[in-house]
Amino acid sequence: MMDFSHLPIRVEPMTVSDLGEVLAIERIAFPSPWSARAYEYELRYNEMAHYFVARQNIALSKNGARGDGVLGWLRRAVRGTPTNGAIPQMVGYVGYWMMAGEAHVSTIAVRPELRGRSYGELLLVYTIQDAAQRGAHVATLEVRVSNTSAQQLYLKYGFEKVGMRKAYYSDNNEDAFIMTTPTLNSAHYQQRVQRLTTALLMRLRENSGMSFARAI
Ligand SMILES: CC(C)(COP(=O)(O)OP(=O)(O)OC[C@H]1O[C@@H](n2cnc3c(N)ncnc32)[C@H](O)[C@@H]1OP(=O)(O)O)[C@@H](O)C(=O)NCCC(=O)NCCS
Repeated sequence: MMDFSHLPIRVEPMTVSDLGEVLAIERIAFPSPWSARAYEYELRYNEMAHYFVARQNIALSKNGARGDGVLGWLRRAVRGTPTNGAIPQMVGYVGYWMMAGEAHVSTIAVRPELRGRSYGELLLVYTIQDAAQRGAHVATLEVRVSNTSAQQLYLKYGFEKVGMRKAYYSDNNEDAFIMTTPTLNSAHYQQRVQRLTTALLMRLRENSGMSFARAI
């Protein structure tokens, strides 16, 4: 498993107490959002379900640090929580069902104003690695044919379009592509994910200014 520590973002299991923030993102991210009840069922009763949230790990501003210069930044980085004691902002979430040796990605979303910063990729790679560790042979999902940005993310991680479900989405009768990875634990696929993950973690650390802090 890759080392996901020392990142500006931490990924942890979703709990019922996360649902307020999850639903706020869900309502913006999806035309047919899941209800609180649906998520509660997933978290409390669905033994196949694995859900994670990503949160900011430290208090960062647009400039990379808030408050009193490098020392303040370092103190916050070491403590790993904002100085005001608030729970760090949720960045996004992901979920999958472990079914018959397949990891079926049921949802993935990033807060709209934080998209394009590699957080969706972090959530996906975390899911792939978690599923591989639990013995999933492949990961699979459905995606709207119009959702090209999500498809690009999946293609980057080796998902291929293997089929289509006609009129899968009831809100507009849109078709879904079925996208599936190669064998997760194959040496070839793991090398690919390892290479992408190394680049991803470097990008996330550099974007947060952590490389600067480490260099001091
Ligand atoms: C799909 C989603 C989770 C991606 O999250 P994100 O944090 O914006 O994505 P990242 O910054 O991690 O981008 C990772 C990769 O996704 C692809 N991607 C992301 N945004 C893209 C865009 N606007 N156009 C094209 N490709 C895009 C790229 O391949 C990118 O890799 P690159 O940086 O090497 O080009 C996000 O757009 C989202 O929440 N969408 C709404 C919910 C949704 O549609 N979920 C998918 C349901 S199937």
